[in-house]
Amino acid sequence: MPLINHNDLRNFISQLMQSYGASEDEATLISEHSVEANLVGHDSHGVIQIPTYIDRIQRGHIKPGAEIEVNNESRTTARINGNWGFGYYVSDFAMKLAIKKARQDNIAAITVVQQSHVGRVASYPLMAAKEGMIAIMTADSGRGPKMVVPFGGKERKLGTNPICIAFPSNLEGTMFVDMATSSVAAGKINLARSRGKDIPFGWILDKDGNQTNDPNDFSQGGAILPLGADQGHKGYGLSAAVETFSGILTGLGFGVSKDGIHNDGCLMIVMNVEAFRDLEVFKQEVTDFALDLSSTEVASGYDRVYYPGEIEHITKQDRMQNGIFVEDTTVANINKFADESDIKGNLDTFLH
Ligand SMILES: NC(=O)c1ccc[n+]([C@@H]2O[C@H](COP(=O)([O-])OP(=O)(O)OC[C@H]3O[C@@H](n4cnc5c(N)ncnc54)[C@H](O)[C@@H]3O)[C@@H](O)[C@H]2O)c1
Repeated sequence: MPLINHNDLRNFISQLMQSYGASEDEATLISEHSVEANLVGHDSHGVIQIPTYIDRIQRGHIKPGAEIEVNNESRTTARINGNWGFGYYVSDFAMKLAIKKARQDNIAAITVVQQSHVGRVASYPLMAAKEGMIAIMTADSGRGPKMVVPFGGKERKLGTNPICIAFPSNLEGTMFVDMATSSVAAGKINLARSRGKDIPFGWILDKDGNQTNDPNDFSQGGAILPLGADQGHKGYGLSAAVETFSGILTGLGFGVSKDGIHNDGCLMIVMNVEAFRDLEVFKQEVTDFALDLSSTEVASGYDRVYYPGEIEHITKQDRMQNGIFVEDTTVANINKFADESDIKGNLDTFLH
């Protein structure tokens, strides 16, 4: 299986994005956040997305170099308008501002609109956890075509509406939850299709509302189920809350935007632990808690118990050492843009 070193992949993606108009700062963040998604095992939100971003630049849906506006700013809040910049760049900026405000006044909440895809949501709350803060982030999956059925329905009405919550600790790998509120992130269905694999029953319905394991049914009028299988009403409620935060509170509204431009509405909340507990005591208790969870006696059919977020940490150690697998379709899609650009070589140079 051909693998690629994470540093080579990062440098290559950064150069490629610059050749399609991203500034050096934008390209650096795009490559850092997307390659990090590959490193931690979320390939659906890694470099597989790069051709889509270039396509959006070419259609004018992403505006490289867009100036970020900070509106309605108070000491603890702000509304950010990304003016159609790259989601990675705009949300990175927004999270840094939220951390700064929370350090000053203990809590901050920021909404973000008019930015493209933010990728793996954990990228941003993890920035806060590194700074000794707790962070919550929700995203509305772009106000593009909806993908998820309300519990009991067969019509697409909701996005995959992800949420992430991250906590500071002394663990090597942060304790956090980062998940779509649908049974699965849409990218994982597309990834299965790219890799020619079946998907488990319980992920999607076909166009007639029947459960199916064929990933192709999704793009042929099917829909994703809400998180929770037969208890899907819980995932459905969570999804509606995420969309209310990320769509209605941000001012984007719900449903599908008529302009067809991917618009990741987000809410970020950052809390300074020091306002509630001594930070070092809190971090140690979270560490002890996570290790207590992961030392739970294992049930039959499982290898071990992980604390939330641990799998990403373990995957990252492995991929840093051994390289990242990028499927042929993604390599070919990226190479097509590389070959048409002014950069030398393509991804094949780095595969080993
Ligand atoms: N930008 C967007 O619009 C968008 C939309 C949907 C999802 N996403 C991203 O897609 C990625 C994948 O989402 P997902 O819902 O498929 O995630 P997932 O199901 O792979 O993981 C969800 C959470 O469960 C934890 N986890 C996974 N396996 C575990 C195990 N065996 N034991 C204990 N904990 C475990 C993970 O650490 C993670 O916190 C996320 O990074 C999410 O942010 C982004």
